Amino acid sequence: MGAGKTSAARAAAAALGARAVDSDHVLEERLGSTVEEYFASHGERAFRAAEEDVVAELLERPPSPVLSLGGGAIASERVRPLLEGHTVVLLDVDEDTAWRRAGGRRPLARDRSRFAAMLEERRPLYDSLADAVLTDSSRDVVRRAVPALRALAGAPPGTRLLWATADSGEYPVYVGEGLVGSGFRALAGDAHVVTDETVGALYGDAVEAVSRVAIPPGETAKTLPTAGRVLEALAEAGLDHDGHVIALGGGVVGDLAGFCAAVYQRGVRVVQMPTTLVAQVDSAYGGKTGVDLPQGKNYAGVYHQPAAVLADPRTLATLPREELAAGWAEVIKTALIAGGPLWKRVRSRAAEADRGLVLACARTKLAVVAADERDAGARQSLNLGHTVAHAIETITGYARYRHGEAVGLGLLAALTLSAQPALREEVADLLAERGLPTRLDPAIDPAAVVAATARDKKRRGGRVGFALVEAPGDVRTGMAVSPDDLRAAVAELERS
Ligand SMILES: NC(=O)c1ccc[n+]([C@@H]2O[C@H](COP(=O)([O-])OP(=O)(O)OC[C@H]3O[C@@H](n4cnc5c(N)ncnc54)[C@H](O)[C@@H]3O)[C@@H](O)[C@H]2O)c1
Repeated sequence: MGAGKTSAARAAAAALGARAVDSDHVLEERLGSTVEEYFASHGERAFRAAEEDVVAELLERPPSPVLSLGGGAIASERVRPLLEGHTVVLLDVDEDTAWRRAGGRRPLARDRSRFAAMLEERRPLYDSLADAVLTDSSRDVVRRAVPALRALAGAPPGTRLLWATADSGEYPVYVGEGLVGSGFRALAGDAHVVTDETVGALYGDAVEAVSRVAIPPGETAKTLPTAGRVLEALAEAGLDHDGHVIALGGGVVGDLAGFCAAVYQRGVRVVQMPTTLVAQVDSAYGGKTGVDLPQGKNYAGVYHQPAAVLADPRTLATLPREELAAGWAEVIKTALIAGGPLWKRVRSRAAEADRGLVLACARTKLAVVAADERDAGARQSLNLGHTVAHAIETITGYARYRHGEAVGLGLLAALTLSAQPALREEVADLLAERGLPTRLDPAIDPAAVVAATARDKKRRGGRVGFALVEAPGDVRTGMAVSPDDLRAAVAELERS
């Protein structure tokens, strides 16, 4: 209710040269009265029965390629199985927006708290049924998303689509088991795969491409000299603006290949195909690309949104245990930012590294990036734990810890700085259970970590603002931290 279904359906239908059919309108014609009137005179039960008949009929014999269904239609057990074979698109709006649009005008939108409770109750059902999720239902966005919605039919069964929006571009994110090797392509034109030697040996041949270049695996290869070699290989292979780069690998490949795509001939398209948990839950989305310099982590880079993301959780099966563990640090970080159901799932230990988790984390990150692509405010929340993590990585030459391991330690420091001892203990337990370190290597000098945070590239006016946790789901950014407190938080990492 209030999600913008009617106008979104019209826009989608127009893009397909058709007219959308709205189940509420068909229902009103049949009933000979408005939904509101029927509700008032016959009650909700009678309304639902009539709605069920109409929606079932529309789904069984669709009069149009685009149907918009009343918000409560999917509550019916008769309706749900009939959705199979159709592409179900969820227009995901927050409660404030939905209330602004529908509040006071519909029978079930008279009372704000009842409305909120109903939305909360229905949300898991909507999420479980949605093949595709759009968080922006404006006509132009819907129209641009239509080709990706149609393409979904050619993806392996069970593949889900998120439509990502950011100031500098929109793109489809496909998450599905078996995407790699399925022959599914998000873009037409020549594909040039950039991968690392390990991933290339495992999956390189499963991705159709006119050229392939593999960098050495690991963070120590995320450098300008490696980027230079990749750029030359792409030029040798004849990549031009009709073609695109496919970044097949973990966050290192994604960041480096994205950077190469951004600067190659002043910018060609890149498709991210993340194969690590870190990359599937975090780094593949949002368009931050770059390489490390000896002086600082990610010191040379640009924003370059992907043209598409194809995440196949099945590739995680070959990931070494330690790399999977490293991904959990980003999952825990994302859950702390999201709060709500994701945090509940992660702290309950019920979460598996599967399609559902990848989707939930991707949605969290994409929502933040949609609000603030360039780190002006909200996006800094994604930096939770990263100021100390990047400092640890920099002073250890990017070789002592995996990025995710450093993020785990950084999260603990951030929770100390947030004065959240109980939450810190809980997060330390979660990290340890996933096989991540919770104690800084005693050979590392805490003073050097503190000194390196001062060189963080997010420093402004001589000050590094920290992301701190007020509560899961409530992360404050740009927070001032005194040098003494920072020293104490890093020193605690050596003890805990
Ligand atoms: N751009 C962003 O927004 C963003 C966000 C988070 C992290 N990052 C960056 O991501 C990087 C870390 O990424 P990562 O943890 O994925 O590291 P990674 O890319 O180095 O991959 C880890 C290791 O796993 C191997 N591997 C990858 N996929 C595999 C698979 N399916 N099976 C077997 N082995 C596989 C790789 O060869 C590598 O040795 C860091 O450089 C970090 O700065 C970027």
